[in-house]
Amino acid sequence: MFPTTNPTATKAWQQLQQHATKMKETHLRSLFAEDADRFNKFTLSFEDILFDYSKNIITEETLQYLLQLAKETGVEEGIKAMFSAEKINATENRAVLHTALRNFSGQPVMLDGKDVMPEVQAVLNKMESFTNRIHSGEWKGYTGKPIRYIVNIGIGGSDLGPVMVTEALKPYWKEGIQPYFVSNVDGTHIAETLKKVTPEETLFLIASKTFTTQETMTNALTARQWFLDAAKDEAFVAKHFAALSTNEKAVKAFGIDPANMFEFWDWVGGRYSLWSAIGLSIALTVGYSNFKALLEGAHAVDDHFRTTPLEKNIPAIMALIGLWYGNFFDTATEAILAYDQYMHRFAAYFQQGNMESNGKYVDRTGKPVSYETGPIVWGEPGTNGQHAFYQLIHQGTRIIPADFIAPAISHNPIGDHHVKLLSNFFAQTEALMNGKTEAEVRAELEKSGLKEDEITQLLPYKVFTGNRPTNSFLVKQITPRTLGSLVALYEHKIFVQGVIWNIYSFDQWGVELGKQLANKILPELESADKVTSHDASTNGLINAWKQMK
Ligand code: F6P
Repeated sequence: MFPTTNPTATKAWQQLQQHATKMKETHLRSLFAEDADRFNKFTLSFEDILFDYSKNIITEETLQYLLQLAKETGVEEGIKAMFSAEKINATENRAVLHTALRNFSGQPVMLDGKDVMPEVQAVLNKMESFTNRIHSGEWKGYTGKPIRYIVNIGIGGSDLGPVMVTEALKPYWKEGIQPYFVSNVDGTHIAETLKKVTPEETLFLIASKTFTTQETMTNALTARQWFLDAAKDEAFVAKHFAALSTNEKAVKAFGIDPANMFEFWDWVGGRYSLWSAIGLSIALTVGYSNFKALLEGAHAVDDHFRTTPLEKNIPAIMALIGLWYGNFFDTATEAILAYDQYMHRFAAYFQQGNMESNGKYVDRTGKPVSYETGPIVWGEPGTNGQHAFYQLIHQGTRIIPADFIAPAISHNPIGDHHVKLLSNFFAQTEALMNGKTEAEVRAELEKSGLKEDEITQLLPYKVFTGNRPTNSFLVKQITPRTLGSLVALYEHKIFVQGVIWNIYSFDQWGVELGKQLANKILPELESADKVTSHDASTNGLINAWKQMK
């Protein structure tokens, strides 16, 4: 097991604190002015992905201290521990092996003395042949028609990954297959979806690692009833329902034939599960070969992450830069801004990925931490965000480090859309970095013919301080492979930060309390009695609802 080091007790942390005082007085403009080679120094490439981190408030000295922090807190040991299947998810006594799901190295992955790869490969083979049978029309629904609609029922990690990837890879969709995703327990979600599909042409994928999640089980039962209302025969369920789960017992109890169960394992975290059987909706939507290319892209990054020294290791650098702001500049959030409409769920995906992983206040020795951990992650695609919340990023009182992601080549090269999109992508990071000085604003206002008193009045509002840090990811094109690589880069970033913060990134106890309380309240809502068992506000709200409904 890798060391449990309090990061604030390291020498590097002290050095970073001192260094941050100086860097807070430094402007990105001057960093660029002083070093003509800054772009070359602070960019890294991985296959078709160019990662430019030069527009950050860092110098080579900053990076040295950050890399030292990574070394002192055991990041290298942590990487080894994860890939060698140590039970680094200690609070659940589990290994963390989503990398095994995309391991095409031919090397075994030994867990408790057993190679997990034959099982992984067997499930992939099963997914491939199932996908091919659906696409060829060999698999037929209960009336003999082929499957046209895929409805994935799952939530959290059993939903967001497939939603994000299928949306991002829309240009690769198989003709004749329409996927839908139902996650919310709000009956509206399933009701609106069922309006768009037909019982005889729909395949429901019940996606749940535990197969106990309230939302998923409720939606699955509603879908099953809707199907049986039309099909009238339980025997037909086998043609229209499959399960993606680790819990065979619960799958059987639900009435799904184990032959239609696609298995995965407790060493796959929910938010890291799109590479597993949970990805079946992806394979069915874009074809198995594209699903495999996605996995291969991630595997290539796994190799990079495992073997590249930290100073050239993209996920490590991403992690260190994020941590630099969160811990030494007191930033609280990070924006992910994809200049690609197809990637519109990418930020939402890593909102779960990051916040469920590193939203922790207790360290790996069981003590509350004395420093900030996971950031608040959010974002929307560009250019929409520019007309919504960028104002605050440009001129607000908080620093919001932002990742900008854009493809060089569009899947929809219509007219000048893509050059316009990219001109915004480039302009935004430039503007955030440089801002606009008082002198520049004055010159602009004078040129426009304003009088001196008008200039004096308007000037302060038009000044941009700049010095707002960004990363840019320029990707040749969003393909299954590059998307797989991008996702894996972010996954490993989260891992590195978790190691440095000395927290457990792969459990999620924080979501349990709400679930427990909802289960306690549910019978109270179903009874006509006045509720008195909670605090005055909760009692009041529940009783008011009983009056209103
Ligand atoms: O919200 C908590 C959580 O446990 C996530 O981690 C997970 O992705 C999601 O619920 C769904 O869980 P399951 O796949 O077991 O239904």
